[in-house]
Order: sequence, then C-alpha cells, then structure tokens
Amino acid sequence: MGMNLAEKIIASHLVEGRMVPGEEIGIRIDQTLTQDATGTMAYLEFEALGIDRVRTKLSVSYVDHNTLQTGFENADDHRFLQSIAAKYGIIFSRPGNGICHQVHLERFAAPGTTLLGSDSHTPTAGGIGALAIGAGGLEVAVAMAGGPFYFTMPEVIRINLHGRLSPWVSAKDVILEVLRILTVKGGVGKIIEYGGEGVKTLSVPERATIANMGAELGATTSIFPSDEVTLAFLKAQGREKDWVELLPDPDARYSRIIDIDLSSLEPLVAKPHMPDNVAKVREVGPIKVDQVAIGSCTNSSYIDLMRVAAILKGKRVHPEVSLVISPGSRQVFYLLAQNGALADLIASGARILECACGPCIGMGQAPPSGGVSLRTFNRNFRGRSGTADALVYLASPETAAATALTGVLTDPRELGEPISIAFPERFPVDDGLILYPPASSEGVEIKRGPNIKPLPQAQPLPEVISAPVLLKVGDNITTDDISPAGAKYLPLRSNIPALAEHAFEGIDPTFARRAKEAGQGVIVGGQNYGQGSSREHAALCPMYLGIKAVIAKSFARIHRSNLINFGILPLTFVEEKDYDDIQPGDQLIIDLKDRLGGEVLTIRNATRGTSFKVRHNLSPRQKEIILAGGLLNYTKKKL
Ligand code: F3S
Repeated sequence: MGMNLAEKIIASHLVEGRMVPGEEIGIRIDQTLTQDATGTMAYLEFEALGIDRVRTKLSVSYVDHNTLQTGFENADDHRFLQSIAAKYGIIFSRPGNGICHQVHLERFAAPGTTLLGSDSHTPTAGGIGALAIGAGGLEVAVAMAGGPFYFTMPEVIRINLHGRLSPWVSAKDVILEVLRILTVKGGVGKIIEYGGEGVKTLSVPERATIANMGAELGATTSIFPSDEVTLAFLKAQGREKDWVELLPDPDARYSRIIDIDLSSLEPLVAKPHMPDNVAKVREVGPIKVDQVAIGSCTNSSYIDLMRVAAILKGKRVHPEVSLVISPGSRQVFYLLAQNGALADLIASGARILECACGPCIGMGQAPPSGGVSLRTFNRNFRGRSGTADALVYLASPETAAATALTGVLTDPRELGEPISIAFPERFPVDDGLILYPPASSEGVEIKRGPNIKPLPQAQPLPEVISAPVLLKVGDNITTDDISPAGAKYLPLRSNIPALAEHAFEGIDPTFARRAKEAGQGVIVGGQNYGQGSSREHAALCPMYLGIKAVIAKSFARIHRSNLINFGILPLTFVEEKDYDDIQPGDQLIIDLKDRLGGEVLTIRNATRGTSFKVRHNLSPRQKEIILAGGLLNYTKKKL
C-alpha cells in the first residue's frame, strides 16, 4: 500500500512503535529549534541531562520573543543562551536576526527531515516539506540529547487545493477557510497534508503561512510536498543541496479528504476571540479599526511585506490608525531596504519595529483600551495583545494594508488593480547574525545572571492524592490563561518561582496564594484544556505550586504532554456530565496504589460523598514518566 507524505518521513525516522493511528510512536529527530521564551528552560533541562554536546544534526537557538530590554532580565537571558549554545554545540541566532520560524525556513529547514521545536508554530517548516512538530522544551532537550520524540501516530487528513487564488486573496485566506471548516479542535490528533494542482501556485513562504496556522487547528503538524517550487526557493537561498523531491504515493490513503477551490475564496477575517471565528471581510463590514499590526511568523515574509509596501506606496496611513510592521527576518528587512520598499512603508506613516515577535507575544504595541486591532498574526485570544478588552481580528497582509489606509475593515479588492510581486531568484544571504559554536566546548563558560534560576524538580506522585479543587475553568483554556504572555511576564521565563506567582492570574488572582497554602491541589477543566502556545511554563508553574492532577473533558496535545513531562496527571472524565458536579474547594481523593495499572480510575469527592470515573489514557512509557516524577528523571535513568 502506498504512503502519504507524513508516513514517508515518519517511516524513515521510526525508532519505536507502529504507524497505526492512535498508537504511540518514537521518531528520530534531525533538527531542533528553540526560541528564547521557552529556550532558557529547555537549555536548563538539557544541562540537567548531563550530556556534553547536542546529538542532533542541527540545533538552533533563536532570540525573538523577549527582545525588549527594559530591565536586566531579558539581557541576562540572551547572554545565557549565547553562552550555553557555544558550550553544547548549538547554532545561535542573535536578537535582530528574525523570528525563529521565518529564519529557520530561510536558512535551515529541509524537506524530508524531522524538526522538533519548543514553539507551537514549528510546523511552519511543513511549508518546505519537513515534518515539523511543536513540543515542550523538555522534549526538545531530550531530542537534543539524542533521545527519540514520542507522540501518538496521528491520522492524516488530505486537503486538495484546486485552481488558483484570485487577485487580493492570499495564503492567509486559505488557512482561515480551513479553520472555518475544521475549527480550533478539528486538527487534534491529525496531520494536515496539502496536495492537488493548486499547491504549485503557492510559493514556499505562502505554504509556510498555511502550515503555520495548522497549529490553530490543534494539528500535530501540516505538510506540503517538496516539488520544483521548493527547489526554486532553496536555490534562491543558496541551499539547493538540501532539496529532495517528496511526493505522496499515488495510492496513498487518508482518513479524510477535503477539497478547496482556491479560485472561489475571498478575503476572510477571524473575529475576536478565536482563530476559527471566521467570516468574509465584506460581510463583517466597515468596523472602525484603531491599530493594524503586520508581521509575526505567519505573515512577515518578503512577498507579504512587498505586497503591503505596494499597497501603501504613495499613500498615507489613516490618521486614527497606528500601523506597525515587523519584518520576519533580517534578510526580509534588508531586501526591503535595498529595493526601496522600506522607504515606501516609512513614507506612508507605518511604524517599523524590529525583526521579532513583538506585538504577537504582547511585547509592546498593546492596542488602546476597548480598541480594535487588525493583525496578520495567528492568534487573537482575549488579552494576548496586552489589552484585556481589546478586540483582535486576524486577516491577510493585503486586508491589513487596505484597512490601515481607510481606518475601517476593508476588503482589499476595493483597492482596484491587482499588484504583482516577483519572487526573487536569489535572496541576499548574510548569516552574520548566526553564530556557529566552536568545535570544542573547552573553556566556554556559561554566563548566568540573577534571572537564571535553578530548574524546579518534579516529585514522584504520592500513592494517594488527597487535594482540593483549587480552580474550575471552562472550555478552551489557553496556555496564556495558565501562564500569561506579555512584556510583564516574559522576562520571568527563566525564573519559575517568580513566574508562578502569576499563574491563572487573569482568571483568579488568588490562585497562586491559595495553591501555596494548600500545598497540593487539583484543577478541573472543560474541553481543549491547554490550547495555544507550547510553553511548558503552563505545566511547570502549576507543578511548582503543587498541582498533582488536572481533570478535564479533553486536552490540547502539547499541553497534555507537558503535564506528563512535569509529573502532573492529566485525567479525562469518562462521563462529561460529572464535570458539573464538582465545585471549587471540593476535596478529591485519587488512589494511585495500583500505579496506574487500570485504564479507568475512580475518584472520590470527599466533600460531596460522591465518586466519578476518569481515564488517564497514558501509554506504558508515559506511566513510567509520571511515576518517575517527570521526563527529566525518567530520561536520566535511560541515557
Ligand atoms: Fe513569535 Fe507570535 Fe510566532 S510569538 S513565534 S510570532 S506566534
């Protein structure tokens, strides 16, 4: 039987398990990437594994999230990351070089390889034909140490793209349409594989935009074939040696096939506060917009920003709109400066930010209170922008630029004559801000400032957990809700005792204090608990505060793994209605004397004198991890 793309890469990297959907498999990882917000912790974890040097083919440490330096903390983190990269054989991408996914696509990602990244948008590299998966920092640390990456073999959904996009409709509209069809839960436990003749009409950065927001579907990853378009992109980057052709077999099988006619799409927008709340721009109508933000790992490529520059050329940003633009990489920024497009952007009144995540992670550019922000980013969760009551819409760079000119949400087709931007045959390659590690780590000293705090250690679970429900939350709780993003919190990512003080702050500011007083506790959640960013701090902080179990209706994949990796039991209700009968403060008794031998556990609610059933769904390996007190303890025993 023929194989699809995902199966081909998995099969060539499989070290454990069978490629049967739902079964746990282990694959060899060729490349890893980290960004600074998750990287500080990932490298502390790598260090704790006691390995001399990374064992991957290539590992890159990027600095793109916490680039604001209003205090010593971020600067300390950058220095730590640079020194630890040199020590352990890791490539270091300096601040200013760009957003990890954009730079990785340009300079390192390769078709047919496996990439594991401590960032949920790592699947961006699926645009070039890599099997690229987002994971917690600890899993990336284990991969850097040469260990396999374990995950549940997903089903593979095929999306056939037909035809060609109409003028003013772009890759962002394609993925918004997919989000409309599948929703933020539709990709859970799935790989999304793109095919069909329409794929050939999309450049690699456009494919990457689509693969990037597969993360918003909850998908394990998304992948495109590697074809002559991929070869052209790699040639333009001076990397044609990295090209291999990668196509699915003609008789490949998929769990579901979805057909999308590109020519029928029109400009779309995701309305507050979820990326799947998608509508047609023309139907939403001309709502007043206060801020337009263009950039992020979704839409900051050369083609994206050239289109924006062409729209803004000779025009002025509306007086009531703040337009901010962050180029995705130094390469993109340099090209814009070289060909004059940057001058067009500046002349229009756009505010140019550095090549970094910036407003996407709440690092500056919070919208005004109650304001409307239109962004080319991938997430519009409530509060992520830094303004609790802001209304964030997600759209294409074309829609964003048109809106910046009019001051109201505008369908870019109203701009008239379409623009055409040629893809460069050769990009200016200058890896001057990429530091390669020395051949030997002898004499390399790791620089630790006071913001680099030791890694908190998870403890093995007790035989009986007797703990109160410290928090009961609803559906779609994000990792932002659990451990907030934004300029105030990001500098604390290497300092868990300080960061833990803010856990669940937006939902219940008393949570951290109550957790510390209780000594141990349980959290009860609804559907899709832990969606969003891959940050393991959303498991580490609760672990530090004594959380022993989270009982939810369902979990987001990466967060569930993070909970296991830090020794917190993720449990799902057998009967979802039991969720309604638990109240905050109830004392729950979870008996673990059989060391998770049975699939189903009975939990006693001592406060109400009732009991209910939950499942752990742990693989034998995951049981061992939980019982060992987390992945770090488990891996140390194995290496
Ligand atoms: Fe950065 Fe936002 Fe992407 S934080 S990695 S630009 S999702």
